Amino acid sequence: MQIYVDTANINHIRHCAELGFISGVTTNPSLLAKEDPSVDIRQRILEIYDLIGGHLSVEVNSTDTNGMIAEADEILSWFPNATIKIPMIPEGLSAVRKLSNKGIPTNVTLIFSANQAIAAANAGATYVSVFMGRLDDISFDSVGVLQDICEIWDVQDYESLIIAASVRNPLHIIESARAGADIATVPYNVIIQSLKHPLTDAGLNAFLKDYQKMTELKSSLNK
Ligand code: E4P
Repeated sequence: MQIYVDTANINHIRHCAELGFISGVTTNPSLLAKEDPSVDIRQRILEIYDLIGGHLSVEVNSTDTNGMIAEADEILSWFPNATIKIPMIPEGLSAVRKLSNKGIPTNVTLIFSANQAIAAANAGATYVSVFMGRLDDISFDSVGVLQDICEIWDVQDYESLIIAASVRNPLHIIESARAGADIATVPYNVIIQSLKHPLTDAGLNAFLKDYQKMTELKSSLNK
């Protein structure tokens, strides 16, 4: 399972690019607004693209099919290998079909059920983004929904890649991988949290202390 970072924060994306195991970035209008509501979206997206050099999903803001297609054309004029993020509404599915017919990659967002995922796959979505945290927020079993979708994908041989989105904690990453998601898109703080373990820190401290002792001993013997 690949890991994308789910953010529009340039410093966090720069750090993720350095980490060496992040394969892409997803954004949405709320993430862009959180960083700077007055930001020039095109400029910010291009900054992100320069940093990550991998997958980058950019969301449209129209709710009608033609508006979404026009926005997709504009985003593709910024950089040609953009993935166009389209909301899971009927007008969005029409847009996905049209973009898919032209070979343009799409990421259908705001998917909360297996029925929605099936519709998006049949419309030709390249990616389907299943929102975990927001399901948990309403006391719905997000892992169960993701497992259903992954099982259906195996049975039906759907080609759309499954993205576990709205990830809120490191356990969501493990559950996504266990269920069989292709990608988890994860907020920066959760990525960093997922790398930490107290035994790693304790072990490293002990190694460093012992190395220091050896170096001190060697230098005292050489005197
Ligand atoms: C990513 O594609 C989604 O937009 C994002 O994961 C939503 O996360 P949230 O539910 O934490 O806002």
